[in-house]
Amino acid sequence: MKKTPVLLTFIAFLLASSLSAQTVQLAVSDTSGPQISRNIYGHFSEHLGRCIYDGFWTGDHIRMDIVDALKKIKIPVLRWPGGCFADQYHWRDAIGPRDQRKKTVNTTWGMVTEDNSFGTHEFLELCGLLGCQPYVAGNMGSGTPEEMSNWLEYLNFNGKSTLADLRRQNGRQEPWNVSFWGVGNESWGCGGNMTPEYYAGEYNRYSEFCKQYPGAPLKLIASGANGPDYNWTDVVMKNIARGRTWGLSMHYYTVAGSWEHKGSATNFGEDDYFKAMAACLRMETIVSKHSAIMDKYDPKKRIALVVDEWGIWTDAEPGTNPAFLYQQNSMRDALIAATTLNIFNNHADRVKMAALAQTVNVLQALVLTEKDKMLLTPTYHVFDLYKVHQDAHSLAVNFKSPDYGHGGGTIPAVNVSASKDSSGAVHISLVNLDPAKKITLRTSIAGISFRTLRGQILTSPKFNDFNSFDQPDKVKPAVFNGAKKDGNSLSVELPPMSVVVLELK
Ligand code: AHR
Repeated sequence: MKKTPVLLTFIAFLLASSLSAQTVQLAVSDTSGPQISRNIYGHFSEHLGRCIYDGFWTGDHIRMDIVDALKKIKIPVLRWPGGCFADQYHWRDAIGPRDQRKKTVNTTWGMVTEDNSFGTHEFLELCGLLGCQPYVAGNMGSGTPEEMSNWLEYLNFNGKSTLADLRRQNGRQEPWNVSFWGVGNESWGCGGNMTPEYYAGEYNRYSEFCKQYPGAPLKLIASGANGPDYNWTDVVMKNIARGRTWGLSMHYYTVAGSWEHKGSATNFGEDDYFKAMAACLRMETIVSKHSAIMDKYDPKKRIALVVDEWGIWTDAEPGTNPAFLYQQNSMRDALIAATTLNIFNNHADRVKMAALAQTVNVLQALVLTEKDKMLLTPTYHVFDLYKVHQDAHSLAVNFKSPDYGHGGGTIPAVNVSASKDSSGAVHISLVNLDPAKKITLRTSIAGISFRTLRGQILTSPKFNDFNSFDQPDKVKPAVFNGAKKDGNSLSVELPPMSVVVLELK
């Protein structure tokens, strides 16, 4: 890593509001860290509930209001068609004239009829409209190496072959050159109940037949661990053909209660708020430990850790199909998103791609729809504020957070990440999880020069405030006036439950 000759360091003293005399030192240093891949800001769209059907797809066209909203946050990559659905998906069912496509059953999510009107061509058209990279999860669980290999030929071969001609006959002349390719999903569970040893062998067999067509370099992503299952990562990293592997995935969901009783998305008190935040912060340990195991087999960090499913999972909204995983999205979710993205930014050396689950109407969604209406969730606004970090270089942050305590437990109240973009602008994203205390940062700055200081804030009086179709703008970003440049110092006042992004230029 190239170091800048002048070490740009500023030391901040966090004085935890008038309620506490605690002083915390925050140091952001300008030693240019790893690049924060834009793909950390990726998303996931599964054939599940109302994500694709009655979400992105109306039955015969893609919803452009959703496309425009996602373009605004610079969506870099979109994962599809699952999730668990990926391992029951047969791509040939969903090509050709729509009225002739096979009707199948979505046995994973609610036994609903899958009419396959949204298939390969529609997904890649969506990615084209969004201006993002497609990330296709291939079927290893119920498919064959031949089926996976044929799909890649259909997608990526520019020459003459029966499958490439079929693609042309179906309206697409040029290959799409799909690059990100998942070899199975959750192969330890819905993707086939495999042991890591068995999966590694299968991965080696399938990936052998995932061919690199000219102009279409494949980035293969192996199916990874269930949260803190470190043995999975160890065995898989040891046994897979690492030379043809771009990434290893990992899934971790934030659950406030138990898997049986996850708790409501909006009707919760401080107990559930605290538990959800504590669960969300476990991502730091989980990512660190998986990274350390990967370092053993891949010390040069060539293989990415791809957190391609994350986010809060609550009970489904009352009155909706529980198999559709439709949940509202509150200020709590925004704090979870901001905290998780700070963790990923701070691990940009290993985490090079991630995907929040899921983009529209499912789990921690960015967008909710009701007939032709659409609203943007608090989580959407976090991705909007944080897009400044995409492809910027991370800056090291050192500080000790004050504690937020509840019910006998404590968690760090504050989390931070910082980056410097190609124009030299520095962005610092700060999160205060404490629901009652404001936190004042009094920062003395050494060696940093900036002329303008701007900020935006996302906050709300209650952690369970949310945007509804009646009040779609209840939680939305505002200009932040709580940061002041005072000579050679910076003071920042973080309100309770807030996400602040500062720009120093
Ligand atoms: O995102 C919902 C489901 O969660 C996905 O289908 C699966 O991969 C995970 O268990």
